[in-house]
Amino acid sequence: MKALILSGGMGTRLRPFTYSMPKQLVPVANKPILVHCLENVRDIGVRDVAVVVGDRSEAVRAVVGDGSAYGLNVTYLQQEAPLGLAHAVSIAEEFLGDDDFVMYLGDNVLAEGIAEPARSFRAGRPAAQLLLTKVADPRSYGVAEVDAEGRVTALVEKPQQPRSDLAVVGVYFFTAAVHEAVRAIKPSARGELEITDAIQYLVERGDRVVADEYAGYWKDTGSPDDLLDCNRLLLGRLGHAVDGEVDAASTVEGPVVVEAGAVVERSRLVGPLIVGAGSVVRDSELGPYTALGRDCVLDGAGIGNSIVLDGVSIQNVRGLSGSLIGRSAAVRAGEAAARRLIIGDHTQAEVAA
Ligand code: DAU
Repeated sequence: MKALILSGGMGTRLRPFTYSMPKQLVPVANKPILVHCLENVRDIGVRDVAVVVGDRSEAVRAVVGDGSAYGLNVTYLQQEAPLGLAHAVSIAEEFLGDDDFVMYLGDNVLAEGIAEPARSFRAGRPAAQLLLTKVADPRSYGVAEVDAEGRVTALVEKPQQPRSDLAVVGVYFFTAAVHEAVRAIKPSARGELEITDAIQYLVERGDRVVADEYAGYWKDTGSPDDLLDCNRLLLGRLGHAVDGEVDAASTVEGPVVVEAGAVVERSRLVGPLIVGAGSVVRDSELGPYTALGRDCVLDGAGIGNSIVLDGVSIQNVRGLSGSLIGRSAAVRAGEAAARRLIIGDHTQAEVAA
């Protein structure tokens, strides 16, 4: 089996981050979402992976390289524009050949991995196998109707009036039968070649399309709140490992990861949290549910429930929560009573009224 991982697209809801990095590289629990995907694919025994990239391909290549760091052999496929998930399959046709493959949307987090669905796909080899999850509002997802035997009977992309509460998770297993379906479909009203339409084509032609409910934690990480939710969950599973230096004047509660080369002085750490290598935390309160990247400096800071990317400094500002702070950003207390903001396009700031 091969894998096709999608790391193109726009990511407008994650601006300003996506001005400088593809959304799939935003870290949760200090690891890019895309790397969580690669690890899940490796864990089902796949080695040959194609990563579909768009505008920000250089950044993806810089992180993933040839894949060997993750035990994979990675090929890049450049997509000229985000023309749809089925379009991504079409540009991968030569790479995939006649092989079965798993298609994995590079912004989806499946915290329990994909071993179970991979096992059932390999055993039954249906033309397509989907994962579904019940959601409260399915209108922003593909929505499936499934019969009593687990066969998919209908599939609609982002319906206004959903006929079930079963959302399609962004991991799909296919045999090579899907290529003919992709060639047969036309762009949707939003101008994309929809994988949902290709699968519906297989359903209508009588091919076997099945679905399992995904029992684990799943998130399509479109927004800052989605990322913070994933961050909380994955931090909770990191365990406890203090390899950096934590001085005697600091206190540590709960599971905490302090990477080698990080320094913590006179601070209170409340896990789950991670402090990345090279970061310095002084006279601060950190956590719970906070991922601090590498080479950050926190001095007189207080921050919880947040994602802080590499190279950030926070000085003499407390009470930060629910925040996403981009690479090398500086947050500090001002001298004047006025609030001063130097923030980029499409940034969101919430200050006390
Ligand atoms: O996350 C699950 C949902 O993913 C499914 O329920 C939907 O049926 C499916 O269409 C998809 O919907 P989204 O609106 O979330 O898709 P999005 O445009 O966000 O693209 C998903 C990923 O694929 C994202 O990492 C960007 C990448 N992508 C997207 C397009 C359209 C590409 O690499 N190329 C593309 O052309």
